[in-house]
Amino acid sequence: MNLSFNSREALDYCITETSAQNVPPPYRGKVREVYELNSETLGIVVTDRISAFDYIMKQAIPFKGQILNQLAKFSFDKVNDIMPTHVIDVPHPNVTIGKKCDPIPIEVVMRRYLTGHAWRTYKSGLRTLCGVPLPEGMNEHDRFPEPILTPATKATEGHDEDISEAEILERGIVDESLWNQIKEKAFQLFKRGTEVAKSEGLILVDTKYEMGLYKGELTLIDEVHTTDSSRYFYLDGYEERQAAGAGQKQLSKEFLREWLMKHNFQGLDNQILPDLPDEFRMEVFQRYAELFKMLTGSAFEPSLQKNINSELERIFSRYN
Ligand SMILES: Nc1ncnc2c1ncn2[C@@H]1O[C@H](COP(=O)(O)OP(=O)(O)OP(=O)(O)O)[C@@H](O)[C@H]1O
Ligand SMILES: [Mg+2]
Repeated sequence: MNLSFNSREALDYCITETSAQNVPPPYRGKVREVYELNSETLGIVVTDRISAFDYIMKQAIPFKGQILNQLAKFSFDKVNDIMPTHVIDVPHPNVTIGKKCDPIPIEVVMRRYLTGHAWRTYKSGLRTLCGVPLPEGMNEHDRFPEPILTPATKATEGHDEDISEAEILERGIVDESLWNQIKEKAFQLFKRGTEVAKSEGLILVDTKYEMGLYKGELTLIDEVHTTDSSRYFYLDGYEERQAAGAGQKQLSKEFLREWLMKHNFQGLDNQILPDLPDEFRMEVFQRYAELFKMLTGSAFEPSLQKNINSELERIFSRYN
């Protein structure tokens, strides 16, 4: 089917929620719907919902779920020699069949550049982030001498909060030997993500990993090196743009965050969540598709579907 990506028609294909029959109702995260297919297996459906500052936007982004799920599949395949991943199969553009893990309640955030939350913190005058000292005299989007690990708690309610390594251990969120393993893997994953990005003309700015235990084994879960969990810049011209103070083009959710801040929303109390205009939704889609093309080397081909629930029922029936 011929669908121009500029076409508003794309907006009609947004998948905002699913409800497959014959399986227990899913856990609905901000973006994913997680069906428990059996005691060891999850059916994870990536919807077109988009969140920022821990709020789900009222409008979805066309084909975002497919892009994200396929980008995650691509990137999981690039790192599965570093550690086990949760992926069992990707039987549908929006679906990953995954190992059901006990999630570790820490967002494992790695950063190489002073961008986003790190920059907002730095700009406020602070010179440590999650217990990590930050060099003086840096500008937005400057590169740190080394990658840094800046974890956040994965709060079951409310906002994620920065946490230092010392506090993770003090609070006993994970024990020291597991934490050392998590840390080692995080640095290895980030190194790999940086290399993959570089070979395609991109800079991996920062990213978030989620890990869990599957039968006692540390496993990479959720998504990896996607546009939702990571920031990327173009490698070409980065130095020149920095020298000129010209900013960097955002190929990630930071684009949405910036738009929201311009519309007086950053998730604080008493702020009103703005509606996303159709043209803006299409622009977010274009940026996600652009990153997909650069990173994977193939153009994103949307799969047009209007009845995902029956597809899910068919796929899930293989696992119960
Ligand atoms: N293999 C896995 N085993 C167990 N849990 C997983 C696995 N993969 C992902 N998850 C969890 O499933 C949920 C995915 O949903 P989503 O990414 O939409 O959630 P979120 O909005 O990031 O977080 P929250 O759960 O706080 O809403 C997350 O809670 C994630 O930790
Ligand atoms: Mg998530």
